[in-house]
Amino acid sequence: MKTPPLRLGVNIDHVATLRNARGGVHPDPIRAAHMAVLAGADGITAHLREDRRHIRDQDMERLKRQLFAPLNFEMAATPEMIDVATRIHPHACCLVPEKREERTTEGGLDIISGASHLRPMIQQLKSQGIRVSLFVEPEIAVMDAACELGAPVVELHTGTYCEAVTEGDEARISHELERLRRAAAHGSGIGLEIHAGHGLALDSVRPVAAIPQIVELNIGHSLIGEAIFMGLDEAVRAMRAAMDEGRAQVAA
Ligand code: PXP
Repeated sequence: MKTPPLRLGVNIDHVATLRNARGGVHPDPIRAAHMAVLAGADGITAHLREDRRHIRDQDMERLKRQLFAPLNFEMAATPEMIDVATRIHPHACCLVPEKREERTTEGGLDIISGASHLRPMIQQLKSQGIRVSLFVEPEIAVMDAACELGAPVVELHTGTYCEAVTEGDEARISHELERLRRAAAHGSGIGLEIHAGHGLALDSVRPVAAIPQIVELNIGHSLIGEAIFMGLDEAVRAMRAAMDEGRAQVAA
C-alpha cells in the first residue's frame, strides 16, 4: 500500500504569547500564519484557551477571514467554545483537555469517562460540516472509544515521547514510539484518520513522521522558538524537510 502524504499544521499560539507579553499588535499571529503557509505549512492551528492567554477571539476571526489554508481550531469541549466554533466555522476542530493552571495541554482528553459529555458536542460540530478530532493518549482502548464516539480523527499526544527524547532515555523513547505505532495502526485499522502532535521538534519529529498511518503533525512551540534563530520561513522549511526525511524511511 502506498504511504499517504504527511501534512504539517503550524500552531501559531506562541506568536500571540509574545505579542501579549507587551500588549499591542506585534508580532501579529496572522502574519505568521501567512508566512508559514508560504513556507510549506498545509494548515494553521490555533488554540483559543478559556483564559485567552495567547490566541484571542479576534485572532480566530481574522484567521478565518484572511487565511486560505485549512484552519484547525483547538478548543476545550465547553458550550462557550462550541458557540465560538459555530460562529467562526473553521475547517476542523480539535477537542483538547484544558486546565487553567497548566502551562500547556497536559495529557490527552479522557474520552472514556467523558463520553456522554463529548458525544453531543462531536455530533453538533460534525452536523455543521466541521472535521472533529480528539486529542488523546496513544492507547488501543482510547482508539476504540474515539471510533465509538463517531469522531473521524484522533490526534495522538506525543508529549511523553518528546520528554523521553529530551532526557535521552533510549528505553523510554522505544517504549513511547511503540505505543504511538500500535495506536496508529489500530486506530487506522478501525477507520480513524490519525494525526499527532505536542512537543515535536527537529530532533524528535523523524521517527513519528515514519509511522505510516499518521497523516498530519501539528507543531508549534519548537517552530516558533527556532524562528528566533533562523526566521519562521526557514524554521518551517527545516521542519518540512525533517518530516520528509522521516517519511522516506517508511519505504526504506
Ligand atoms: N496538538 C495539540 C492538540 C496541542 O494542544 C498542541 C499545543 O497547543 C500542539 C499540537 C502543539 O504542541 P507544541 O506547541 O508543543 O508543538
